[in-house]
Amino acid sequence: MCGIVGYTGSREAYPILIDGVKRLEYRGYDSAGVALLQDDNISLYKCRGKVSELERFCLDKNIKAHTGIAHTRWATHGEPNDQNAHPHLSEDGKIALIHNGIIENYLILKRELQRRGYQFKSETDTEILVHLIRDISKNENISMAEAVRQALNEVVGTYALAIINTEQPEEIIVAKKGSPLLIGMGENEYFIASDGAPIVKYTNKVIYLEDGDVAVINTNKKIEIRNINNEKKRPYTQKLEITLDQLEKGDFPHYMLKEIFEQPRAIQDSMRGRINVEKDVVSLGGIIDYEAKLMNAKRFIIAACGTSWHAGLVAEYLFETLVRLPVEVEYASEFRYRNPILNEDDVVIVISQSGETADTLAALEIAKERGATVIGVCNVVGSTLARNTHAGSYTHAGPEIGVASTKAFTTQVTVLTLMALSLARKKGSISLSYYHRLINDLESIPQKIDIIFQQNDYIKQIASFFTNKRNAIYLGRGVNYPVALEGALKLKEISYIHAEGYPAAEMKHGPIALIDEEMPVVVIATMQGTYEKIGSNIQEVIARKGKIISIVTEGDTQVKEMSDFCIEIPATEELLMPLVSSIPLQLLAYHVAVSLGCDVDKPRNLAKSVSVE
Ligand code: M6R
Repeated sequence: MCGIVGYTGSREAYPILIDGVKRLEYRGYDSAGVALLQDDNISLYKCRGKVSELERFCLDKNIKAHTGIAHTRWATHGEPNDQNAHPHLSEDGKIALIHNGIIENYLILKRELQRRGYQFKSETDTEILVHLIRDISKNENISMAEAVRQALNEVVGTYALAIINTEQPEEIIVAKKGSPLLIGMGENEYFIASDGAPIVKYTNKVIYLEDGDVAVINTNKKIEIRNINNEKKRPYTQKLEITLDQLEKGDFPHYMLKEIFEQPRAIQDSMRGRINVEKDVVSLGGIIDYEAKLMNAKRFIIAACGTSWHAGLVAEYLFETLVRLPVEVEYASEFRYRNPILNEDDVVIVISQSGETADTLAALEIAKERGATVIGVCNVVGSTLARNTHAGSYTHAGPEIGVASTKAFTTQVTVLTLMALSLARKKGSISLSYYHRLINDLESIPQKIDIIFQQNDYIKQIASFFTNKRNAIYLGRGVNYPVALEGALKLKEISYIHAEGYPAAEMKHGPIALIDEEMPVVVIATMQGTYEKIGSNIQEVIARKGKIISIVTEGDTQVKEMSDFCIEIPATEELLMPLVSSIPLQLLAYHVAVSLGCDVDKPRNLAKSVSVE
């Protein structure tokens, strides 16, 4: 959570910083701020609200500077307001600091600093850092970088930090532990950011900081990186794997809509080079070296959060059906605190779009500590998850900016399908004809999604039915049950309509009490093993005057006749159905949210990358 940007060089820093934090707003957007080095002073401007508010606030301010840092916040400690917004300034105005992460022992440190006379202006955990660093640098007569290192040795928690100070006005000090931070290398200029989005416009040469690194970035010197023990490290420059047009909305009104419509291309990219002309799954990213471990696994455990967890639930059906091995799907946040029983024959698959979700990363570490093989499925190249797993496959969805995951889900399911197919083929756990049927159908998914897009206007009409509703229920069975969960999550997170997903047969065990003429019930009732049974579940809803919005297979008549609204989708192999049945639900949630006037790309209280617990 929270976005960090910094610049030092010969250009005007402010426009670079503002453009940068706008590009990072998906990481948090409840307040924003900027600190600029001007002669011997630091000018600090910050306010509650989005970056556009900060821009308005700065209209009549002096914004001329060549070095500065900026921040967009997702509040953890202290409500979103002007005081709690970052940057935070030392009492003498000589140091400004921005932070992403959580300082867990901040209360102990705060009491000690208050005892020494420091006055706190905010309720944040971050403010202790600026006073602590200032305290050390004043009393120890050491360089600012050394003071930062010493301060961080007293801190328990996670951080990505950027610090400017009046004594070295061309310098930014950065540090990282548990939250991502990159340095972009220009010609006599440097950029820093939480990810590549603010940097790619200027350079594609980057250094990814590692946990424990403290780096001094100064236009007059070479970059110096030391670890927390003060040992010098060699900077390792890498190529940034994103392009600017991937980060733009183009002609779409929202990133979410753009990303929904990108899915045929994204799924194709997920499959590219992974299926050969003989229709064999040939290679999956970096997992070849761990193929023996996968082949000999006794059990798969999948750990993830949110939408990625839903992709994990789909994978449970895929792996159990195709590979015939037991699968457990875990919320990463529960798994990490449950003292799970793991052994060397277990393969743990961690799934994450961002690769920075704190709970998923903790699950990954526990699984590694306990001897399991850990495989990642991840979108962001070079993310912590991608670097810390034993092996893994990228989804190649391209940057996902909308907070609501769409193409991340379908590409995760695509990669997990390829993994399951590859293993099933090698183990001989499915027939060759079924295997080929699935591969052929998988390859046709992008065209099928294009067909669903033709109904976008109709789905928009259905959305108007939801605008005066406060609740909705989503039902699905089998592999469409996780799709129901995902559809409900999409609706609630961007439209704020309360929505719950259930396995359709569970309805009569409680949720049916909620059904009345006001309740929209979205049912995924495609042709599959449980088709007849879901027909009965629909009748139970109708008998209680609930309104049915169904997703059915093209040509269906039975469910269609029972429905108030019906969206037809192309016939698809049952196991691959989530790749198509999830699409109308994404569009439905999008149009409902737009018709309610919600900010679909930046829904309230949320952030794209949940890098704190
Ligand atoms: O980056 P990750 O896939 O690890 O993120 C996990 C969840 O935070 C994420 O899927 C979240 O639930 C989305 N907002 C859902 O649309």
